[in-house]
Amino acid sequence: MLIAQITDMHVVLPDDPMAELYQTADRLAEAVRHLNITVNKPDMVFMTGDLVNCGKVKEYELLRELISPLGMPVYLMAGNHDDCDNLRSVFPDHDYLPATGPLCYAINDGPLKLIALDTNLPGKSQGQLGDAQLAWLDAELQACTDRNALIFMHHPPFRTGLVTMDDMNLIDADAFGEVVSRHSNIERILCGHLHRATQTLYKGTLAQTCPSTSHQINLLLGETNELETVKEPPELLLHYWTEEDGLVTHNDYVKNYPAVWKMKSGVQ
Ligand SMILES: [Fe+2]
Ligand SMILES: [Fe+2]
Repeated sequence: MLIAQITDMHVVLPDDPMAELYQTADRLAEAVRHLNITVNKPDMVFMTGDLVNCGKVKEYELLRELISPLGMPVYLMAGNHDDCDNLRSVFPDHDYLPATGPLCYAINDGPLKLIALDTNLPGKSQGQLGDAQLAWLDAELQACTDRNALIFMHHPPFRTGLVTMDDMNLIDADAFGEVVSRHSNIERILCGHLHRATQTLYKGTLAQTCPSTSHQINLLLGETNELETVKEPPELLLHYWTEEDGLVTHNDYVKNYPAVWKMKSGVQ
């Protein structure tokens, strides 16, 4: 099973000043093209929030148009820039999305249980899961006895050293960590929001963040109140799962780079 994770596309309408700054729609269109033609064609694509920048219906309509060429199932999630009701109103055919309440759901028909959480806290940059969603997560993990689970969520529950972004992460990270600590069947926790790739051991599993298909946050570690974006290359993650080896994650550039040397496989 191969799962592509793309995140923080921040789609805006053409008349938004951010369109000129980041070309977010063009960059998403390139990512969609890449996912359709790559030799590593994924079985599904998870989009881990900040799908659009202002949560407007028209932005979601543009998002819908941009991702419609994808030739595999797509799963949508909410980030802090999303509006959950507007999102579900434009994607009524995405019937895994609950009709009301948080946009959390579980996909149970593959070799891993896929759990999507909704950390959106309206009007805030930080994220929050809340007691009801944490209880739902706890029950889903408890019931998952025949395979491991992947947890997708927009806000990372861990600090990264990018201090300004850390101030905008998950408010109830401690409560989330307590739930995670109770279960040994969590294969990985996969987040967005940071606009950079990071990994860390977290409560007995591995947690990581996915870079953006649009713009990245500059790598300024330590005590600084500066936050700046950089036009580092658009990226995504490919999560490759096999029965023998479990989950291995690869960073994948949207742009194709030419081969400079080749050989036939085989140990000599
Ligand atoms: Fe973002
Ligand atoms: Fe975000």
